[in-house]
Amino acid sequence: MGKNITVYDKKFTLYIPSRKIQKAISGIAKRINKDFAGKRPVFISVLNGSFRFTADLMSKINIECEVSFVKVASYSGTRSTGKINTVIGLNENLRGRSIIILEDIVDSGNTIQKVAAELKKHSPEQVKIATMFFKPHAYKKQILLDYVGMKVPNDFLVGYGLDYNGLGRNLSDIYILNL
Ligand code: IMP
Ligand code: MG
Repeated sequence: MGKNITVYDKKFTLYIPSRKIQKAISGIAKRINKDFAGKRPVFISVLNGSFRFTADLMSKINIECEVSFVKVASYSGTRSTGKINTVIGLNENLRGRSIIILEDIVDSGNTIQKVAAELKKHSPEQVKIATMFFKPHAYKKQILLDYVGMKVPNDFLVGYGLDYNGLGRNLSDIYILNL
């Protein structure tokens, strides 16, 4: 039996220990250090969930780079558009730059597609994507994910930046919702 915790009103079980997460991040860092040497990439971290992945990845990046943060804000469209996502907080000149988007988790792919499309409007040289977790069975988009820390099942996870009802982002391990 794994370690059980309660977050808000639901029970979760330990699923991915911190050391496995850190090992996966080392793998991503190694590849990025090689792929972007001399390119001075700009990491664009998508808040809130990506704050831990960003900090841990940056501690393992040893090439010259910049780091910046954006947020995806949702609001209801005025017409029949329903929910609209807008990327806020982007204020650097990205023309000709190599961008690496940092995400905590890619689920349906809606968020990452929106952020990538928004960044491409700034005429960068290239836009790559790094995500700590990926739910391949939930993914509905075509856009390629360049660096994936770990594939996870289509279940609800909490910890390591991921929240349930605002709680659990501080946990260093990943916990899975009990069915
Ligand atoms: P997507 O736009 O459907 O790919 O969803 C991406 C966002 O949904 C992530 O950045 C998370 O904030 C949230 N999300 C997706 N799966 C989970 C999960 O298992 N736990 C907590 N948040 C999640
Ligand atoms: Mg996120």
